[in-house]
Amino acid sequence: MTNFHILTLFPDMVLNGLNTSVIGRAIKENKISIQATNIRDFAGNKHGHVDDYTYGGGAGMLMQPQPIYDAYQSVTKNMTKPPRVIYTTPQGKVFKQSIAKELSQEENLIFLCGHYEGVDERVLELIVTDYLSIGDYVLTGGELPAMVMIDTIARLCPGVLHNNDSAEDESFSNGLLEYPQYTRPPVFMGKEVPPVLLSGNHQKINEWRKEQSLKRTKERRPDLLDGV
Ligand code: ADE
Repeated sequence: MTNFHILTLFPDMVLNGLNTSVIGRAIKENKISIQATNIRDFAGNKHGHVDDYTYGGGAGMLMQPQPIYDAYQSVTKNMTKPPRVIYTTPQGKVFKQSIAKELSQEENLIFLCGHYEGVDERVLELIVTDYLSIGDYVLTGGELPAMVMIDTIARLCPGVLHNNDSAEDESFSNGLLEYPQYTRPPVFMGKEVPPVLLSGNHQKINEWRKEQSLKRTKERRPDLLDGV
């Protein structure tokens, strides 16, 4: 079972966001656990300040190292081995399905969410094992990226998806986009469901789906086919 630990200044944001739907159900069913630690609780001053000006000048405030380090120590104190610690940053490697799959094997994962103009480099050097981005754009903080990654990883953990097949056929699991899908009614606004899907011939259906997967990937994400 994977335990997700989030170090953040906004614990309610991540917990509220992840407590719904499939991930919320998985938490209730003890398939995964999600804990959020408020970095501000480790401020070490009565004002709760966790940020300060940047040495060398420049705009904006930086998160100080000590509160983050103390929050990390408190979360890891009962762990038998040092966990992977993911810092969400646009400077990281771009997160993708294969990284999610690898991380879903871990027993503990820590996500450090930055704010303001960033985090003092020294604490990153001390605790971070993985720098991960969700794409080439800049958000105001690391919480949404952490939620995106946790949602993606958690649904790959055993028992989280009830229909075991649903993580097998989907987009990216085989390097391709998923084929188009249809449900009732058989005709909608004059548009018919492809007849092969109503034929009951499973070999034909599988062939059609493979073809469609490839066609769709060529049209929409040809970059995925590079090097195939
Ligand atoms: N923090 C701010 N922008 C981000 C991004 N694109 N990915 C991960 N963390 C971020």
